[in-house]
Amino acid sequence: MKIDGKTRVCGLIGDPVEHTLSPQIHNMLAEALSHNLVYVPFQTRGGAEEVRKALEGAYAMNVLGLNVTVPHKEQAAAAVKEMDPLAAKIGAVNTLVRTEGGYKGFNTDMTGLYRAMAGEGIRIEGEEILLLGAGGAARAVAYMLSRYGAARIYLLNRTPAKAQQIAEEINPAFGRDLIRPMSLTGYTGLPDGKYLAIQATSVGLYPACGEAVIMEDAFYDKVHTGVDLIYRPAETCFMHLVRKNGGQAYNGLKMLLYQAIEAYELWNDVRVEDTLAEKLYERIKEEAGNV
Ligand code: ATR
Repeated sequence: MKIDGKTRVCGLIGDPVEHTLSPQIHNMLAEALSHNLVYVPFQTRGGAEEVRKALEGAYAMNVLGLNVTVPHKEQAAAAVKEMDPLAAKIGAVNTLVRTEGGYKGFNTDMTGLYRAMAGEGIRIEGEEILLLGAGGAARAVAYMLSRYGAARIYLLNRTPAKAQQIAEEINPAFGRDLIRPMSLTGYTGLPDGKYLAIQATSVGLYPACGEAVIMEDAFYDKVHTGVDLIYRPAETCFMHLVRKNGGQAYNGLKMLLYQAIEAYELWNDVRVEDTLAEKLYERIKEEAGNV
C-alpha cells in the first residue's frame, strides 16, 4: 500500500473496535480497485456529546467516510447533518458519507442484508417471514423486510411486549397488519407451510455456540430457509437446526461483506462487481476463521 499526500482516509468509530473485520474488507477493496484510500479503526468513547465531537473532528480533518458500530449507531444518527430515508425510519446509521457541510447517515447494514439475501436467491417480496428477536437488530430487519415488500412478518420474542412495540410502530407506517407480534412459542399456532426465518437475537453468538433462541424441531420443521445475522461461529446452532430439519441455512458474513461494499460504493461513487465481492468473501471467510 502506497500512502502519500493524496491518500483519502475512511474509518470505523465504535467501542470496542479491536475485533472488526471492516479494515480488512475496505483495504482489500481499495487495493483491488487501485484507489488511494486507507481505512482505519478509531476507538471512540460513548456519549452523545463525544460522538458529535468525533464526527465534527473527522469532518474537519477531511475524513471521506465513516462506519459506525456499537454503541454509537443511534447517537451518530442524531448527530448527522442529513439522513437517508430508510436510515431515518430505522433511527440508526452505520455509514456516514461526506457531503457539503457535514455527513449524511445511511444504514447499509440493512441494504447490505437485502443484497446478501438477493445474491443467495432469497426472496422477500410477497413472503411470509418468521423474525426472531425484537432488539435493535431485529427492529431494523423488520423495517427492511417491510420496505422490500414482505407479505407478513411474524415477530417472535422472549419479551412479547417489545415485539408488540415494533408492530405498533411499523404497522401504521405501512397502513396494514404487516407485523404480528408473538412469544417464542407462538409459532405453534401459525398456518401450515414452510417459511423464511431470520435469526436476529444475540443468542448463539460465539462463545455460546450451543444455544439457539428456539431449540424445538417443531419450529425448524416450518423453515425452508434460515438466515442468521451472526457469523461467529460459521454454523450457529440455529443454522444447524435448520439444516437438520431439511432447510437451507446462511450465516451473517455476507451481510457484513455487503454492508461494507455498499458503504464503499457510497464513499467512492463506484459499483463493486459480484466477481470481486465473491473474491473478497473467500478472503474474509478465512479472516473470520469461517472456513
Ligand atoms: P441487538 O442490538 O443485537 O438487537 P438487543 O437490542 O440487546 O441487541 O436485543 C437482543 C435480542 O436478543 C432481544 O430480542 C432479546 O430478547 P428480549 O427482548 O426478550 O430481551 C434476545 N435475547 C437475548 N438473550 C436471550 C435469551 N437468553 N433468550 C431469548 N432471547 C434472548
